Amino acid sequence: MTTEQTQNAPGGTATLAGRTVARIGFGAMQLAAMRPGRPAPDRDTALAVLRSAVGQGVNHIDTAQFYGAGACNELIRDALHPYPHDLVLVSKVGVDDSGHSLVPAQRPEQLRAGVEANLASLRTEQLAVVNMRRLDAPPGLRAEGDQLVDLDSQLAELIKLRDEGKIGAIGLSNVSPGQLRHALPAGIACVQNAYSVLDRSSEPVLALCREHGLAWVPFWPLGSGGFPGVARVTDHPAVVAAAASLGATPAQAGLAWQLAHYPHTLLIPGTTSQAHLHDNIAAGGLRLPPGTLATLDRLAPAA
Ligand SMILES: NC(=O)c1ccc[n+]([C@@H]2O[C@H](COP(=O)([O-])OP(=O)(O)OC[C@H]3O[C@@H](n4cnc5c(N)ncnc54)[C@H](OP(=O)(O)O)[C@@H]3O)[C@@H](O)[C@H]2O)c1
Repeated sequence: MTTEQTQNAPGGTATLAGRTVARIGFGAMQLAAMRPGRPAPDRDTALAVLRSAVGQGVNHIDTAQFYGAGACNELIRDALHPYPHDLVLVSKVGVDDSGHSLVPAQRPEQLRAGVEANLASLRTEQLAVVNMRRLDAPPGLRAEGDQLVDLDSQLAELIKLRDEGKIGAIGLSNVSPGQLRHALPAGIACVQNAYSVLDRSSEPVLALCREHGLAWVPFWPLGSGGFPGVARVTDHPAVVAAAASLGATPAQAGLAWQLAHYPHTLLIPGTTSQAHLHDNIAAGGLRLPPGTLATLDRLAPAA
């Protein structure tokens, strides 16, 4: 990033895999059709949202080949290739899209195939970070049978891919504190677990990130796009009230709380809307007073 880009970075900057990124990034999953009844936005809208995010200083995009069977990556490529030199593209492996539904893909050769598919669809030589998405615990898919793979075998394959230069760094997703601690010697750049002001069940994992200064990239920072059973941050009365008292939107209050909670938090809220994108980026400029932080701190048990 240039000095000017750094100064104007939404939410300020932090480091991800040795790269300087704006603390407000973009999660691309909402741009793909992921389940029946939740259609993707039209192509022009999706391309415009991606370009607008980057135009407003976002330089960290989270994606996956299995978002819409490659559709999400293709949109990123079509919107942004050739990529700005400071753009950090992060993907994940461990799941595949059979064309009809998501299926586990935890075996080492499947991780390699996943990385190769990402490289091809994004048309890039290297993915800055690849998160190993574990399927031991909710939410979402669970591994069984030959998909029950030990973390060491997966890390060994990802280390090979890193040595080959196909990935810049290794991250972990949906892991326990024990798994993170076990994986640390492999060199872990970031952790991506579900986490929001209303769901702090991963606080012990975040505590370990704090201890080691690791980047924390919560998924579902706003409580997801309607995943069953996940509380929407923007609907919670206390978040709504806190936001109103500051002249901000509920999404901004929820995101600003995350930024204040840990200095190495990198946000990847997802949206299909230019107005919401603008809102989320502007959350980077919102400072919550101590009383508001304390109120929001109490909304969920810090497990
Ligand atoms: N590692 C994993 O297992 C995993 C799992 C899930 C997601 N992820 C990553 O995390 C990213 C974020 O997750 P997510 O997109 O599922 O959930 P999210 O960011 O928590 O929430 C997205 C939802 O919030 C709405 N929204 C966004 N900005 C808003 C605003 N300012 N005001 C009101 N509503 C707003 C969006 O609707 P509109 O489109 O109407 O704005 C969408 O329905 C994904 O894109 C993906 O990259 C990773």
